[in-house]
Amino acid sequence: MSDDVLMDPAPYYRAHVFVCTNEREPGHPRGCCREKGGDELRDYMKKKATGLGLGKAVRINNAGCLDRCELGPVLVVYPEGVWYAVTSKADIDEVLQTHLVEGKRVERLMLQPTDKLPADIVARRVAAE
Ligand code: FES
Repeated sequence: MSDDVLMDPAPYYRAHVFVCTNEREPGHPRGCCREKGGDELRDYMKKKATGLGLGKAVRINNAGCLDRCELGPVLVVYPEGVWYAVTSKADIDEVLQTHLVEGKRVERLMLQPTDKLPADIVARRVAAE
């Protein structure tokens, strides 16, 4: 047996984005990203990424439930593991341009690991002011 350390291969994509499009039955207490527009935002993001020339390096996929339903629609960008709560096409445009084109972060849309409910985001933003 070799003592060589097995190295992970280079990432296949420069960035891999998972957009939650999970659907639950109407009235579910946690809600779901699909009822809040996850599908439409995923489709829009894919189309815009192609238009920006990101198509080969950045993969936009739909995801099942990412277990942050109350904050949705949510997406996560790997390999960085940065989460965003997005509610509009303008939010998607900002994530595409700032994060995926410029390599920066959209602080106002980012989720922290401690965020569980929308009120957590509001409280964090108020505390930062
Ligand atoms: S339904 Fe989107 S995170 Fe659960």
